[in-house]
Amino acid sequence: MNADARQLAANFNLERLSPEFYDDPYPTYRALRENEPVKRLPNGTVFLTRYDDLVTTYKNTKSFSSDKKTEFAPKYGDTPLYEHHTTSLVFNDPPSHTRVRRLIMGALSPRAIAGMEPDIVKLVDGLLDAIAAKGSCELIDDFAASIPIEVIGNLLDVPHDERAPLRDWSLAILGALEPVVPADVAARGNKAVTDFLAYLRTLVERRRQQPGNPERDVLTRLIQGEESGERLTEKELLHNCIFLLNAGHETTTNLIGNGLVTLHRNPGEKQRLIDNPGMIKTAVEEMLRYESSNQLGNRITTERVELGGETLEPGTSITLCIGAANRDPEQFPEPETFDIARTPNRHLAFATGAHQCAGMALARLEGAVAIARFLARFPDYALSGRPVRGGRVRFRGFLSVPCAIG
Ligand code: HEM
Repeated sequence: MNADARQLAANFNLERLSPEFYDDPYPTYRALRENEPVKRLPNGTVFLTRYDDLVTTYKNTKSFSSDKKTEFAPKYGDTPLYEHHTTSLVFNDPPSHTRVRRLIMGALSPRAIAGMEPDIVKLVDGLLDAIAAKGSCELIDDFAASIPIEVIGNLLDVPHDERAPLRDWSLAILGALEPVVPADVAARGNKAVTDFLAYLRTLVERRRQQPGNPERDVLTRLIQGEESGERLTEKELLHNCIFLLNAGHETTTNLIGNGLVTLHRNPGEKQRLIDNPGMIKTAVEEMLRYESSNQLGNRITTERVELGGETLEPGTSITLCIGAANRDPEQFPEPETFDIARTPNRHLAFATGAHQCAGMALARLEGAVAIARFLARFPDYALSGRPVRGGRVRFRGFLSVPCAIG
């Protein structure tokens, strides 16, 4: 076993993954954590799997940069995808990051998020009614994927009859963030950025003419900026609206899908949650830890640094493996056990430090409402066929999950 694990770690290459890895990456992550926690990959990048090393990296924005201009220039060329990603909040460093983040966090105020709960409950209950009428469901299409896109649509107050293309645009742009990007995937991503920008220009123009209620409408708040007069530029505004839609879409779909599948596979914990619905908050945290929907993060070193006993030269690209850190036994006792009461649970599903997820309160709210209400309505739900994985390494989730509702 030890020799096997050493071999697994030695052979690991993020650009050549096996079907078994996509199904269950955790044995590989464990082998890496135990044998080569600062793994040098054949393409010269470094892959981190230990909890403490991820925290150190996330917390030091000076040595570990999020700015992707140098890295993305050869990957995307002079394209809409390049402009989009290099303008997004998540791929910038202080001080420009600090300014844009303050404006976005100001717009995503706790009051704005808490005020969204009644609409989320209504949306979820409507989907549950439709599933009950149908007598069975496809967990992703009929439920998990239908929630976040509507919620972010509400957040920016996109008219309902204009929402249809949002999901495909979002998937096409995120698809082009995978470690390897084939030409057709890049072409789809570029077209999606162009179409999305054209749509947002009209939406923003309309909102400027007719502002919404700034208490509820995040787009109006983003357009108006702060009382001090600080505002996003037009380019920052448009690209960060796309980014908000993307950041909050597939990740939250996967939280809901992964959560319901994990409960099904752990019937003792499922029953425990049915018997104790008040445990939904810790249960959602455990779902985020156990099957993190965003498995990988990236940074690049700006100077020579020591990390996990290794010396990294300036300009080293680093992949932070959230999925591996969230099962590190140094931080989580019995990390392979799914325990809906786990406390403390300082998982890194939302990262930590300056770039910690700006939408985590909304993601937690959506996850709790969706999973608690699904379970209360269909306590006997069960998978009725083999779930199909998305086949992506960064965003872990399912494409389809056939489900009987009992
Ligand atoms: C389960 C759902 C979600 C997960 C797992 C997740 C995960 C993450 C992670 C890991 C990061 C840090 C990326 C990095 O620096 O490397 C991040 C950043 C971010 N997320 Fe989320 N996210 C979720 C939902 C959302 C939602 C619903 C929104 C928006 C409404 C959102 C908006 C953002 C934004 C704006 C950032 C960038 C923050 C910054 O760079 O300062 N996320 N998210």
